[in-house]
Order: sequence, then C-alpha cells, then structure tokens
Amino acid sequence: MKFFLDTANLDEIKRASTWGIVDGVTTNPSLIAKEGNPIDEQIRRICDLVDGDISAEVVAATHREMVKEGRRLAAIHKNVVVKCPLTREGIIATNELFNEGHRVNVTLCFSSAQALIAAKAGAYIISPFVGRLDDMGQDGMELIRQIVTIYQNYGYATRVLAASLRSTNHVIECALAGAHIATVPFKVLDGLFNHVLTDRGLEQFLADYNKVFAETPVGV
Ligand code: G3P
Repeated sequence: MKFFLDTANLDEIKRASTWGIVDGVTTNPSLIAKEGNPIDEQIRRICDLVDGDISAEVVAATHREMVKEGRRLAAIHKNVVVKCPLTREGIIATNELFNEGHRVNVTLCFSSAQALIAAKAGAYIISPFVGRLDDMGQDGMELIRQIVTIYQNYGYATRVLAASLRSTNHVIECALAGAHIATVPFKVLDGLFNHVLTDRGLEQFLADYNKVFAETPVGV
C-alpha cells in the first residue's frame, strides 16, 4: 500500500519525506488556501520535494473550465495528477482529460455507485472519504471494501485512494481492505511509528548494554 501525505504544508512534507515512506501528496482547495500561496506555485514546490503523484484539484464549476484548469495544472510537472470532483461536470471533465492522456483523481466519493462511474470515465484514482462518512454515522471503511471488490470484479485499473483518514486504525483497516493508497495528514503518518512496547523495549536494551559497556560507547 502506498502512503500519500494529505497536506500542502511544505514543512510537513519536508519532514515526512526524510522518513523514506512517502509515495505522493494529495491536496485540496482547503489545504492550498491554508498555506496562502497560489496553487500553481505551491504545487510546483511540492513537486520539488516529493517524487511521486501530486494531486492538484480544480476549482472551476463547469467541465469546460475544469478541463482548461486541469491542462494548466498538469503542465506544472509530470507528476501532477489533476483532481476533479465527483459531479456530473467533474466526470465529463475527467473523461475528457483522460482522453487527452492526463491522469485524474476523482474526489469527494461517498458511494460505490459514484466509484463505478469514475472508473468508467477513466479515473486514474478514486478518492472515497472514510472519516466524513463515519462522522455521519455510516461505515466509511465498508465503502472502501465495496469499491475494492467492485473494481476487482471488472478489472478496473483505477486505484483506490482512501481519503479522510483520521487514525492508525483507519490505515490498518484500509490495508486489510486492499486499498492501493492511504492518504493521511502528517499527524496520522507520524503516529504510525508509535508503540509503547518499542519505547520500553529500546530503553531496556540500552540500559542493559550500558550497564556493561558504559565506558566504551558504540562506535569508539
Ligand atoms: O483528502 C481529503 C481529506 O483531506 C479530507 O479529510 O479530515 O477533512 O475529512 P477530512
């Protein structure tokens, strides 16, 4: 499973990319707005930091404008994946961009029917939002399981990118469900490292070692 970072913050991206486990970055208009730089500039900077798929979302309302915007975003860098919303206009734009050879991440997916439409339109990635369904009292992870099964049934190449993930448990459940990609905020990625037994075990190992070898530190 690939790990994408769900942020447009350069400091977070720089920090996480040193860990060697970040395969790409997803952004959305809210995340871009938080950083205060124009989208083209911010996406270019992100592409300089991570060598992987970088999703950049259109903000236009009509498919014609979305296609124009998508072409402009795709021209920023070879790794840019254009993100279109799962609306009628967004799906028309997805199909047109796909026919032109661009890769499209279809976002704001909340049902398996929507995911099926996106795959038929030629989406490179589908982004179902787990946490926002959970927020409404629905089972967000069940949507991931359904989409993975449906795509397998028909051999769709569209990758399932689980979005709106809020916890380590969400990431584990996505991996069990067979999602191709999990996109997570910095805090969730950072949290994946943690286990109290790792900390306790390391502390004990070093204490035992230093009891005997404290006078000859490692590497000297
Ligand atoms: O990629 C979509 C994601 O950013 C949404 O997350 O936590 O705002 O539902 P959230």
